[in-house]
Amino acid sequence: MRVNTRLAALGALLLPAASAQSSGGTGSSTATSIKAPDENGFYWISSEGIKAAFIPYGASITKLLIKDQYGIERDIIVGWDNATAYENPDVHPHLGSVPGRYANRIKNSTFEIDGETYHVEPNENETPEAPQGANTLHGGPNGWDYRNFTVVSKTEDSITFSIVDPDGEQGFPGEVISYVTYTVHDCTWDIKMVAIATTKKTPIMLSSHAYWNLDGFGNNETNTVLDHTLYMPYSGQRVGVDNILIPTGDILANERGSVNDFWSAPKQIGADLDKPEAQGNCGFNCTGYDNCWLVNRAQNGPYDWRTSGPVATVHSPWSGIQLDIYTDQDAFQVYSCNGQDGSWPIKSENQGQSDNPELRPVVEKYGCVVLEVQDWIDAINHPEWQRESRQIFGPGGDPYVLQASYVFSINSTGTGTSS
Ligand SMILES: *[C@@H]1O[C@H](CO)[C@@H](O)[C@H](O)[C@H]1NC(C)=O
Ligand SMILES: *[C@@H]1O[C@H](CO)[C@@H](O)[C@H](O)[C@H]1NC(C)=O
Ligand SMILES: *[C@@H]1O[C@H](CO)[C@@H](O)[C@H](O)[C@H]1NC(C)=O
Ligand SMILES: *[C@@H]1O[C@H](CO)[C@@H](O)[C@H](O)[C@H]1NC(C)=O
Ligand SMILES: *[C@@H]1O[C@H](CO)[C@@H](O)[C@H](O)[C@H]1NC(C)=O
Ligand SMILES: *[C@@H]1O[C@H](CO)[C@@H](O)[C@H](O)[C@H]1NC(C)=O
Repeated sequence: MRVNTRLAALGALLLPAASAQSSGGTGSSTATSIKAPDENGFYWISSEGIKAAFIPYGASITKLLIKDQYGIERDIIVGWDNATAYENPDVHPHLGSVPGRYANRIKNSTFEIDGETYHVEPNENETPEAPQGANTLHGGPNGWDYRNFTVVSKTEDSITFSIVDPDGEQGFPGEVISYVTYTVHDCTWDIKMVAIATTKKTPIMLSSHAYWNLDGFGNNETNTVLDHTLYMPYSGQRVGVDNILIPTGDILANERGSVNDFWSAPKQIGADLDKPEAQGNCGFNCTGYDNCWLVNRAQNGPYDWRTSGPVATVHSPWSGIQLDIYTDQDAFQVYSCNGQDGSWPIKSENQGQSDNPELRPVVEKYGCVVLEVQDWIDAINHPEWQRESRQIFGPGGDPYVLQASYVFSINSTGTGTSS
C-alpha cells in the first residue's frame, strides 16, 4: 500500500539502520525487534541509572525511574497505572504525550498559508458563540495524542513510534508522517522527533508534554513542586498572552526580579506566587505559570545545543534530583499545574512512600510542572515574528526536527535546610 511504502522509504532514510527492518509491516512481522509490553501495556527501555516506559497512545512516556540522593528509586512522571487508563474520554490532560500536529493554541482555530485560510477543529474555551471552542489546543479533539502510534522499532534502550496523519484530518492541509524516537543512556533521556509534510504545506509543531514531580511525591513535607528551583538562563523574554492564553503578538520582557524572571538566577517555582503580578499570569483568575519563554542564545555566538548549556534546569532540594534540559528548540513552555485539584491519584508504584499521613496520595494544585521544549507558540498567526521556516513545512523542503536531551543528576544543594 502507498502509505506503507512511504513509511518504509522514510524509515530507511531517517532511522538508525537497525530499525528499518521492521517498518514495512502492518501484520505479524518482526517479532525479533518489537518486544511485547508488560501487563500494564507499558513498553520499557532502560540503561545505566534510568528506566522509562511508554505507550503507543500519544507516544506517551508513562514512567521514568531515577534514584534520588539516598538511592531510592522514584518515578518522577505523573501518569496512570496502565495504558487503558490513558484512553479515558473524560480526563485527557495530554499526560506525557506528543501533542500534534500543532502543539499549544491556535487562535480562533484559524491560520493562513500562501493566502489561503484554513479552519481547524476547535476544542477549548467553549462560548455560546463558539460551542465547540474558541481555539484549538494541541492539534484538536483528535490530535495526535488521542491516537495510537505504531511501534516500529524497539531495543533494550530505545523505542521508535510512527504516525501517519492524513490530509484534512482535524482540518489541517496535507499528509504528515512522523517518527518519534526515545533513547535512554547514562541517566539521560533523549528525544528525537522528525515529521515530513508529504503532500501540502502545513504547520507542524511538536513537543513532549510530561508532567514532573522530582520527588516522585515522596517528600514528607510537601506534595507540590513549589520548592523546586527553575533556571532558564536564555529566557529574558516571553510570549504575551490574553486571558485565555492566546498569544497577542507582543513579546514581553521578564525584568530582573519580576515574577517571570527565571533567567537571572535559579528561583523556586513558588517563590513569587504571593506577589500581585502572579495573579492572572496564567490566564483568567489563574495564579502561577502557563507561559512560553523564548530561548535566546544566538547572540552569544555559535552554539551547539548538545553542549552549550541547558535551556532549563529544575532541581528538587529534597530528593536532590536535578534535571537539565538540552534542546535545539527556541522556546520553552512551563505549566505549574495550577489547574490540578487532587482529583488525580498518584501511581501505585514508585511514588508516594511518605510517612506523613497529612499528605494525600494525589496530585495537588502545584503538585507538578510541565516542561515543554517547542517553538514560539501560535507563530503561524504572527507572521511578524518571522518563524515560518520553523513552523510551515511542505513537500520537498526540510523536515521538521525536534531534539532534546533530559539529563538527570544528583545535586545535594539545599538538603537539610527545611528539617
Ligand atoms: C488502570 O489504572 C487505573 C488507575 O490509574 C485503575 O483505576 C484501573 O483499575 C486500572 N485498570 C486495570 C485493568 O488494571
Ligand atoms: C474565526 O473563525 C471563524 C470560522 O471558524 C471565521 O468565520 C472568522 O472570520 C474568524 N475570525 C477571525 C478574526 O479570524
Ligand atoms: C489503541 O490500542 C489499544 C490496544 O490495542 C486499543 O485497545 C485502543 O482501542 C486503541 N485506541 C485507539 C484510539 O485506537
Ligand atoms: C520528614 O522526614 C525527615 C527526615 O526523616 C524528618 O526529620 C522530618 O521530621 C519529617 N517531617 C515530617 C513532617 O514528617
Ligand atoms: C477564582 O479562583 C478561585 C480559586 O481557584 C475560585 O474559588 C473562584 O471561584 C474563582 N473566581 C472566578 C470568578 O472564577
Ligand atoms: C544545584 O542546585 C542549586 C539550587 O537549585 C543551584 O543553584 C546550583 O547551580 C546547582 N548545581 C549545579 C552543579 O547545577
